[in-house]
Amino acid sequence: MINEIWNGDVLEVLSKISDDTFDMGVTSPPYNKKKNKSGILVKDIDYSDIDDSLDEDVYQNQQIEILNQLYRTIKPGGSFFYNHKIRWEKGVMIHPMEWISKTNWTTKQEIIWDRKLAANIRGWRFWQVDERIYWLYKPRDKKDYGKELMSKHALLTSVWYFRPEMSKLRVGNHPAPFPLDLPLRCIYSIFDDEKDKFIIDPYMGSGTSAVACKFLGHNFFGIDISKSYIDFALNRIDNLSDDEISDMKNEMSLHIVRETYKEKKEKKKNKEMGQSKLF
Ligand SMILES: C[S@@+](CC[C@H](N)C(=O)[O-])C[C@H]1O[C@@H](n2cnc3c(N)ncnc32)[C@H](O)[C@@H]1O
Repeated sequence: MINEIWNGDVLEVLSKISDDTFDMGVTSPPYNKKKNKSGILVKDIDYSDIDDSLDEDVYQNQQIEILNQLYRTIKPGGSFFYNHKIRWEKGVMIHPMEWISKTNWTTKQEIIWDRKLAANIRGWRFWQVDERIYWLYKPRDKKDYGKELMSKHALLTSVWYFRPEMSKLRVGNHPAPFPLDLPLRCIYSIFDDEKDKFIIDPYMGSGTSAVACKFLGHNFFGIDISKSYIDFALNRIDNLSDDEISDMKNEMSLHIVRETYKEKKEKKKNKEMGQSKLF
């Protein structure tokens, strides 16, 4: 299963995988958006093999089951990054924590993804430009809060600015791909320059998470219900474009420390000493 994408239903495939298989994961599920959310700026999300239209309670129960299967198959000490968004049904807000809080995962952080693009242009509420990324954690024991991120990653803050992926050359006719920076940032921040980790994306789509894994020297495992998306993704992974590589290098170049904590302290001390000499 290393560096493969399996065609099938996510729950059916996950149920065949042994406990503690993966080092981490990242994904974006279908959002159960139904067919009534189009606006001038954004078209209906139309997947090739599902209609993304369940009763909301059925959808949430499925997501809980899937997240718990992911919890089982990720190693203790492993992280899972789950991209979702706030939605409304009949004017009532639905927040992803409504079901995430019912899973086995410990929620480490809610990251705001500012897409700089509104999903509709009506005035029922302020234009929604954000999605969310939940950093979920599987503790080794009750006192395990996980390792600290290195400061070059943590300094990127909890608001991420990525434009949605628009290039058909990269993602074919997939209607809802990740921008490449998103899985790259998650994976690079967790493993830094370590290599050879095993990373799952249970809704692999156009293969974006696998592209990030390959670039960073990790192995991937993916699942998707659509054979045509899988065929596209496998070809994409084998033929990374210069353009994609340049975007990923660019994202990595943002993970830097301009001034270390030690340097900051030193600077403050020197400033205080300078001032005390004046008096
Ligand atoms: C939001 S998209 C993921 C896009 C992906 N992150 C990318 O960058 O292309 C969700 C994907 O889940 C797949 N999918 C939907 N329902 C599924 C199911 N029950 N089992 C497996 N895959 C499913 C769809 O075919 C779609 O490609």
